[in-house]
Amino acid sequence: MKLTAAIAADAPDMASAHAQAFDTPWDETDFEDLLEGIGVFGFLVRAEDPAGVLICRTMAGEAEILTVGVAPWARRQGIGQALMTAAIGVAREAGAQAMFLEVDVANDGALALYERLGFARAGLRRAYYDRGANGRADALVMRLDLTSGPD
Ligand SMILES: CC(C)(COP(=O)(O)OP(=O)(O)OC[C@H]1O[C@@H](n2cnc3c(N)ncnc32)[C@H](O)[C@@H]1OP(=O)(O)O)[C@@H](O)C(=O)NCCC(=O)NCCS
Repeated sequence: MKLTAAIAADAPDMASAHAQAFDTPWDETDFEDLLEGIGVFGFLVRAEDPAGVLICRTMAGEAEILTVGVAPWARRQGIGQALMTAAIGVAREAGAQAMFLEVDVANDGALALYERLGFARAGLRRAYYDRGANGRADALVMRLDLTSGPD
């Protein structure tokens, strides 16, 4: 497993990892466009195949995780935590004072990961996710204080 800072040339592998992790994948162009954005950075984990991806944006002293996902075959090996830890480090270096993300209230695995990293529940966005035939799902907004330094 190798974790690297993402560049535009990684967009195909980022899209591949994302497509494995999510039902509604982002394509190569989405990742290329995102990585061109001001304050946007990403990470990619490769094993034999693309295994994990993260995109984060820093703006006005805040960082937001736009996506983080790990392919099912690569889960519970520390990749999600490594991606998040890398993003937290870069966001801190960039001067962000807090990191935010949204997560489905029923996504127990992701919630466990974020809480383990020190994120706290900061709000609720009702009917935030469109789950098609399953209706809409609420999102929790989670916040990590970046001013108190690494644990
Ligand atoms: C959430 C996700 C990114 C976690 O990635 P991962 O690489 O499996 O996570 P890690 O192996 O780094 O897990 C670190 C810790 O987080 C917690 N955790 C992670 N997944 C968990 C799960 N499914 N159930 C319970 N705890 C979990 C555990 O404490 C775990 O440590 P442990 O394995 O020693 O018990 C991955 O399951 C995923 O991509 N899910 C689908 C996409 C998604 O939901 N993304 C987040 C959207 S907000």
